Amino acid sequence: MTDAPLLSARGIDKAYGPTPALAGADFSLRAGEVVAVMGPSGSGKSTLLHCLAGIVRPDGGTIHYDGRELTAMSDAQRSALRRSDFGFVFQFGQLVPELTCVENVALPLRLNGTRRKEAELRAREWLARLEVEDVAGKRPGEISGGQGQRVAVARALVTAPRVIFADEPTGALDSLNGERVMALLTDASRDTGAAVVLVTHEARVAAYSDREIVVRDGSVRDTEWAA
Ligand SMILES: Nc1ncnc2c1ncn2[C@@H]1O[C@H](COP(=O)(O)OP(=O)(O)OP(=O)(O)O)[C@@H](O)[C@H]1O
Ligand SMILES: [Mg+2]
Repeated sequence: MTDAPLLSARGIDKAYGPTPALAGADFSLRAGEVVAVMGPSGSGKSTLLHCLAGIVRPDGGTIHYDGRELTAMSDAQRSALRRSDFGFVFQFGQLVPELTCVENVALPLRLNGTRRKEAELRAREWLARLEVEDVAGKRPGEISGGQGQRVAVARALVTAPRVIFADEPTGALDSLNGERVMALLTDASRDTGAAVVLVTHEARVAAYSDREIVVRDGSVRDTEWAA
């Protein structure tokens, strides 16, 4: 394929104090593509995802999204872009404990200015699609880990983002539940045309992707884009 990438990164460096997390990492993602990011613990997968999503500003290198240089944007521009174009399923603690599940899923729409009634209606549709409509009125502390992960996936998809960033979305789930959540996430992204950057340790989960890359010691072995 020759189409230009939607999201691309070149030579990304990021250190936390003396610890290098990324060293010259390259990455590309086409519209609608599902890419699995594999690699050992501590290799820099989450850091790469956070840089690509404009959450963490890299020390060096450039990132482009849809013809704009993400690495040249202000914090306010990056956070506006995250709200309008990106969805997130984080590795740790992702739901707001004080809000019910339907309010959690509606939150990204509310932040974009959608009225409460409309936002909650759409949130309920996504909860139903992720097969957790029965927990709509409960708070995250009152539901299981697997239900929480499905609610988090619903929240990532509710704004119809162009890119979904998912960091170990099935890490806390048993294999049957993990498999189901992956199928729901990838089906939903294919239906809506969203691209997915999916961090995972598990080959079983990576099997849901179109392409796999491996991060080792902060750099990327990208099987297709390495040249
Ligand atoms: N906030 C931070 N402060 C200091 N060091 C950090 C921070 N976040 C990550 N690191 C370090 O950067 C390196 C890369 O971490 P990162 O979280 O990106 O790895 P990972 O591949 O996502 O690991 P895991 O599979 O365990 O989630 C590690 O050495 C880690 O200890
Ligand atoms: Mg991680």
